[in-house]
Amino acid sequence: MKNIIIFASGAGSNAQAIIDHFKANGKARVSLIVCNKPQAGVIGIAERERIPFLLVDKSTYGQAMMLEQMADLKPSLIVLAGFLWKIPENIIAAFRGKIINIHPALLPNYGGKGMYGRHVHEAVIAKKEKQSGITIHQVDEVYDNGATITQAYCEVLPTDAPNDLAARIHKLEHFYYPRTIEFLLDDMK
Ligand code: GAR
Repeated sequence: MKNIIIFASGAGSNAQAIIDHFKANGKARVSLIVCNKPQAGVIGIAERERIPFLLVDKSTYGQAMMLEQMADLKPSLIVLAGFLWKIPENIIAAFRGKIINIHPALLPNYGGKGMYGRHVHEAVIAKKEKQSGITIHQVDEVYDNGATITQAYCEVLPTDAPNDLAARIHKLEHFYYPRTIEFLLDDMK
């Protein structure tokens, strides 16, 4: 059975979609959820789903104990799902090529530091874009920079508030992220 580690900081709707997808098809399991926010919704999801979670803070993040706990699981993929801290270089080096992220816009536009969640949708609407979407990409040392794996598009309506666009983007994410992960896992030994 292949192991997936999810990193998340927020409500965890993507984490839930991934958990549900692999519970249904049995090809992999989410073995650990790493979170940096004690009040995040994703912790409630981990508890309900009986998935171990690791709450990190500035003093434990990227330290040897965390790396060991991750390495023990021999993860096939580390999946960032709304995780807002930069991934330390030692984690990237230890799991090179196995870390992926989802971004709620069409990179390279609307990416980089400070561009997350609602801020992205506000910027897209302020620029009167007609189209937005999602980008699933490899993670390297530079923010929102790794090779693109897939993108999916949606329209932006003139009447959209950031919440409307966020809801449309979340729908795309919940459909494409679990399926892209499955596709990547199928390609691995
Ligand atoms: C998602 O829309 C994800 O793309 C975004 O945070 C949201 C998390 O939602 N990630 C970023 O903005 C990263 N730059 P969720 O907690 O409901 O899965």
